[in-house]
Amino acid sequence: MDFKKLVSHCKEYGFIFQSSEIYDGLSAAYDYGPLGSELKTNIKQYWWKSMVQMHQNIVGIDASIFMHPKTWKASGHVDAFNDPLIDNKDSKKRYRADQLIEGYAEKIEGKITKDVDKARKRFGDAFDEAEFRSTNGRILDRQAKIDNAIGTMNKQLAAEDMEGLKALIEELEIACPDSGSRNWTEVRQFNLMFSTQLGNIAGEEGKLYLRPETAQGIFVNFSNVQKSTRQKVPFGIAQIGKAFRNEIVARQFIFRMREFEQMEMQFFVRPGEEMKWYDHWKQTRLDWHKALGTPAENLRFHDHESLAHYANAATDIEFKFPFGFRELEGIHSRTDFDLSAHQELSGKKLQYFDPELNENYVPYVVETSIGCDRMFLAQVAQALQEETVPDADGKDSTRTVMKLHPAIAPVKAAVLPLLKNKEELVNAANDVFDKLKVHVNCQYDEKDAIGRRYRRQDAIGTPYSITIDFETLENNTVTIRDRDSLDQKRVAIDEVSKIVSDSTNINSLF
Ligand code: GAP
Repeated sequence: MDFKKLVSHCKEYGFIFQSSEIYDGLSAAYDYGPLGSELKTNIKQYWWKSMVQMHQNIVGIDASIFMHPKTWKASGHVDAFNDPLIDNKDSKKRYRADQLIEGYAEKIEGKITKDVDKARKRFGDAFDEAEFRSTNGRILDRQAKIDNAIGTMNKQLAAEDMEGLKALIEELEIACPDSGSRNWTEVRQFNLMFSTQLGNIAGEEGKLYLRPETAQGIFVNFSNVQKSTRQKVPFGIAQIGKAFRNEIVARQFIFRMREFEQMEMQFFVRPGEEMKWYDHWKQTRLDWHKALGTPAENLRFHDHESLAHYANAATDIEFKFPFGFRELEGIHSRTDFDLSAHQELSGKKLQYFDPELNENYVPYVVETSIGCDRMFLAQVAQALQEETVPDADGKDSTRTVMKLHPAIAPVKAAVLPLLKNKEELVNAANDVFDKLKVHVNCQYDEKDAIGRRYRRQDAIGTPYSITIDFETLENNTVTIRDRDSLDQKRVAIDEVSKIVSDSTNINSLF
């Protein structure tokens, strides 16, 4: 579905609102409405259950957002958590220099895709895409331009060569997307951490940061958790919580925000065994996405060439968002960087005594890190569809339907009396609702014709609609309509709770 339509659908049905909208909104901050908060909770529940509760050797914590300022010195965020920023002097718009260069490469990639599509049409079944890409002169030239730009940029980013980045932007003749002007400022490093001040300590001493990742709350608690739970390496610590980044360009709805939520797990392993676990978690996390019904063709790995300051291997699980493949989750082999740095700066031992090896060491870490909001966007983007279905008279009509996996759908069932002005039907529907609400999140709706109520439930992804009609009064049965197949089955009221809860339970994903 068109991305603008998706955003307005989320607002219309109470999934997501712009933050402080009555004051014209705050950019890159969003509020989850009644249905959005249910869906988000279900996503978090799926992650927590599969990562923490389904593993004997993974435990969860909930650390505070504020941490001692030295945390961020040790982790490298004070010195190295920067993005290269550039301003356009004419439009006064601010950009990330690396994103401008990536945008240049994406444009050329678009031209390559067009060439390939044209050739496919021309050659039909005989078309061999791989051969065409590796032999067609125009495509090879274009690919060389991309490789050159991205390769040079990666080297400059690694060397923190800001002058080089500016020169590259000029050499590639990149213009401001807003004004078309090429009148650029210098490129400068911009630290992404938000800071605030402790009430009772003035100056630098009292400077606090809002955490830019939840991971550090896990690292500083390594010994507390290991000792209190008596976990043995390999083991993991997981948490879900808010993170804050002063993104230079925050856009694409909830894809890139300044306040967002992460679901992270740090897996502590023996030094030297990290690549084995890195491969294990890459596969496990990909399977987690697929179990929710995400088709394999919408997911791919993107291995990093230039690595963050803490990593010796890293990959993104990318999802095909409406605006292209983008990072959904990161899997990083973080070595012993964080624990060693905290150990050094705090002077406290962050080591593990391995009884099998009879030695102490600082464990290595493999991290899985996924943005809850990005996961939300991916699921909604994938689920929201417009399709043609027969209406009550058998004629074709268009419906908007959110085909979320039932286990994460915000409302599991709608309870609908056929008519609202028949007291017996309304009473019977309320009885069904009261029985069902104990088991699942359900909605009672009596307004409008039954067909319109079905459509409303389709639009919010409710897997089942239960209709209470005159036959209900005679024999205690109701109809259950399936959101996807549109099949209607008549079942006894006593069976409804079991049918709905069995097929919408998070456990059905395991
Ligand atoms: N602890 C490692 C870490 O934070 P990251 O790749 O910077 O790694 C992990 O972030 C995940 O957090 C990303 O894959 C993405 O899903 C999410 N994320 C990062 N920045 C975000 C932002 N500004 N808005 C929404 N989600 C974000």
